[in-house]
Amino acid sequence: MAMALDDLGYQMTGCDSSEGMLERFGIEKGARDIDLRLGSGFKIPAEDEEFDAVISRMFIQHFSDWKEILREKARVTKTGGIIFYDFGNSEHLALAPEVENPELGFPYSTDPANIPSHYAVCDEATINKVATELNLEVLSIRPHGLLVANAQFWQESAASESRQFLAEASKHLENPAVADFMMFLEERFVSRMPKHISYGNITVLRKLDRAAMMYEKPKSTLFDKFWRKFKG
Ligand SMILES: C[S@@+](CC[C@H](N)C(=O)[O-])C[C@H]1O[C@@H](n2cnc3c(N)ncnc32)[C@H](O)[C@@H]1O
Repeated sequence: MAMALDDLGYQMTGCDSSEGMLERFGIEKGARDIDLRLGSGFKIPAEDEEFDAVISRMFIQHFSDWKEILREKARVTKTGGIIFYDFGNSEHLALAPEVENPELGFPYSTDPANIPSHYAVCDEATINKVATELNLEVLSIRPHGLLVANAQFWQESAASESRQFLAEASKHLENPAVADFMMFLEERFVSRMPKHISYGNITVLRKLDRAAMMYEKPKSTLFDKFWRKFKG
């Protein structure tokens, strides 16, 4: 993603806690001017408010304490800036509870003890609550990846049938025209469906200006009294 955004003209900085991953990325990025930093998402090696936007893919949903990563992303995002990441929809999983049974062989688990397959999910109310706590505004939570680990499809079909379907779908998607059509469906159709349609979503948040919010929306009479006294 960093390379694609660099190609579109954005100045990118990448972070990973794995030296091996950064070394590999350093080779793959070629001549692109992308600043690479070694560090953890729980303690991002960056100044407060350093970036206009903080983006991750296939990352925060692998941690049960993802809220701490979100807090850290908010710290390094400028006021008014954007936080963008993919996450899991509990609305989708709620309609396919059988996939929690390991015998079904579904690739993701909500059990944090199942480290390699752990994939955290949350519902819209939770993300709204967490966003408020972190002084973030939810701009959008859109479903995406209709075919990727679709728990409802997996529940309806046997594990072997689901795997075979995905293998066949992947073969079709090697055809650029089919891949373009799938992208068209994702952008214009899947993203407008209710969240339960797919396992994953793309969440976009904006960092709010806390001082401006307090000034514009005094929440209580107590606050009014305090504000009048403070203003003299
Ligand atoms: C599933 S991969 C996704 C990589 C990349 N974002 C992509 O889309 O291809 C997850 C990445 O998170 C990195 N990682 C694991 N724990 C981390 C942590 N605490 N802080 C930062 N990166 C971490 C891993 O080294 C790995 O590169």
